[in-house]
Amino acid sequence: MNALVIYDSVFGNTEKIAQAIAAALDTSAIPVSQADGGQLHGLDLLVVGSPTRGFRPTESISKLLNGLPKNHLAGVRVAAFDTRIMLETIDSKALRFLVDKGGYAAKTIVKTLEKKGGQLAASPDGFFVTSEQGPLKDGELERAADWAKLIHSNRAA
Ligand SMILES: Cc1cc2nc3c(=O)[nH]c(=O)nc-3n(C[C@H](O)[C@H](O)[C@H](O)COP(=O)(O)O)c2cc1C
Repeated sequence: MNALVIYDSVFGNTEKIAQAIAAALDTSAIPVSQADGGQLHGLDLLVVGSPTRGFRPTESISKLLNGLPKNHLAGVRVAAFDTRIMLETIDSKALRFLVDKGGYAAKTIVKTLEKKGGQLAASPDGFFVTSEQGPLKDGELERAADWAKLIHSNRAA
């Protein structure tokens, strides 16, 4: 299977998740700064990941995906993940409410991937950090690898 993982990461946590997913898919993970639309041609599977910042993906991820030509991902299976803060670690009740209701990056990424013609391979998922800069919550790397294996096993024969 010709798969690729593209990610953005400010503090390194999303990068760790991206690498765990890439390892489980037996492929590589590349930072969005090194990615361009041309690399997506002929892929069987594209996985995109971003930290959730202000309820959204980072600008670099949005820019790359929004800039793809129409139907650029036709015939490509797509999936998205994000990293996000553990709600229990937010002291302010008002902020906790906002973060909970505000939405997360993976859902937005999936919408754009589908808009560009991609076929959804798995539900979007989010992996938790214990504070803004991390570290990741225990067990999240394993959960990411399991999510990737599910995508792999969902593929058409
Ligand atoms: C400016 C800023 C905005 C953030 N906004 C959100 C948010 O809306 N929802 C959320 O769950 N986490 C939010 N976070 C926490 C990030 O998701 C967390 O920093 C990120 O998962 C870490 O991933 P990285 O190490 O790859 O950058 C925010 C963090 C920063 C610094």
